[in-house]
Amino acid sequence: MTRIGIRLLAIALLVLSPACSPTAVASPVGPTEAAGDPAPGGVVRHFDITAEAATIELRPGLHINAWTYNGTVPGPTLRATVGDLIDVSFHNHLPESTTIHWHGLAVPNGQDGVGGLTQDPVPSGSSAHYAFVATTDGTYWYHSHQNSLAQLDRGLYGVIIIAPRTEPAAPGTDATLVFDEWPLGLERPSPPPASDFSMISYVTYTVNTKTGSAIAPVRFEPGKLVRLRLLNVGAFDHFVHIDGQPVTIVAFDGHAVRGGPPTTDALPLGPAERLDVEFTGPNTALWIHLQDGMPPAADLVVPLLPVGMSVPPIPAMSSPAKVLDIFDYPAHAVDTVWPANTVPNKAFTLHLSAQLAPGGVQAMSPDETLYEINGAAFPATGTLEVGLGDFVQITFVNDSSVDHPMHLHGMSFQIITVNGLRPAGVLVKDTVVVAPKARVTIGFKADNPGWWMLHCHILYHSLGGMMILVHVGGASRLAQLGGPFGGRPD
Ligand code: C2O
Ligand code: CU
Repeated sequence: MTRIGIRLLAIALLVLSPACSPTAVASPVGPTEAAGDPAPGGVVRHFDITAEAATIELRPGLHINAWTYNGTVPGPTLRATVGDLIDVSFHNHLPESTTIHWHGLAVPNGQDGVGGLTQDPVPSGSSAHYAFVATTDGTYWYHSHQNSLAQLDRGLYGVIIIAPRTEPAAPGTDATLVFDEWPLGLERPSPPPASDFSMISYVTYTVNTKTGSAIAPVRFEPGKLVRLRLLNVGAFDHFVHIDGQPVTIVAFDGHAVRGGPPTTDALPLGPAERLDVEFTGPNTALWIHLQDGMPPAADLVVPLLPVGMSVPPIPAMSSPAKVLDIFDYPAHAVDTVWPANTVPNKAFTLHLSAQLAPGGVQAMSPDETLYEINGAAFPATGTLEVGLGDFVQITFVNDSSVDHPMHLHGMSFQIITVNGLRPAGVLVKDTVVVAPKARVTIGFKADNPGWWMLHCHILYHSLGGMMILVHVGGASRLAQLGGPFGGRPD
């Protein structure tokens, strides 16, 4: 049959179908398990968030057609204090369905915002309500978890900063730096169709969605504490070199650590990871370079300047620094999740592989590669079944030659061993970069019932299959893949 013939047949079936199947139109499953009140002492923080298309200027003359929350990328920074109720009225003005996921926050399963798993995606033109209590302080982020590669590549993300209940002396400067890369094909006067850009040709690197001379300097007061919150919301590893300034890491993926020494090493920041660092403001200008070795990284230099200093010309980076091995950094998480000598109730080994799709095999990823877990691609990867309260150990074995930043929803984990060795400190995280040929064991307490994603956060790897489900405590599943609303977490 010709293509037009098929199209006519499809239209005929559409026209006929109401008569053939007189079922009522289902309504989508929205977010469930909303909290009604803050914790004692907390307050309600209400946010209106609208997903909408907007034109964003990366630098003078370079405009892109972005998808945004409230017209900006990153979207509005959501600030709250531990115990507050984060209450979000969400409106979808995009041409396709979407969700919001709260990356790194342990919310009830029905609030996790995963299309086709914890809710149906919110259709174009519809609204949804999310409400959950902020239980841990730190630097987190939010983003779509429906058709994720395309939606995050276009800018659907924002930052969440949760302050501790008792804030230590506030720093003089508290700045957030969000690193991303933009694919070719978004710089057009009219919205390109979803498939019409080369998803892995990330040609422009940005910080807070600015590049080159459009990057605004961060200002600090000499002698006062400076806190920088570094987030990587993109697809590539970045190596953040704060040239010449020793900094102390005070949080990994939002989780506060104590006792870390100052370091001048380049700070590795994998996809979805966060690092908070502190230092005392010097009397001189500082510069952040990305020590990535990729040509577009050269356009990303962040000036850090004492208040009042005019912007000097950008110096070249002094010689590249050694890259910090975070597993050698002897800082201790304030809230550990894996008490010493814990014996796991459940242990799993997940082999991570990547191979070019053989002829005739359709790969979902735009780079024509199969990204698999134990030889299968999602949803054929199956489910890790664990009981409520189990201490669960998962060993990632990276059989491929590329990094995989593995991210668990719903619960934070501790790094137990890396290539058989304990890390120097105690690291609690939600995302861990598993280097090529490395073997990383994580441990967590399965204290949050539900169906949770565990996936690589390079989103063309997750689209290519590198996702698996963790089912805690026999909870019932809230939404299904596909169906009339087309739920798809990748
Ligand atoms: Cu940042 Cu499954 O997500
Ligand atoms: Cu990966």
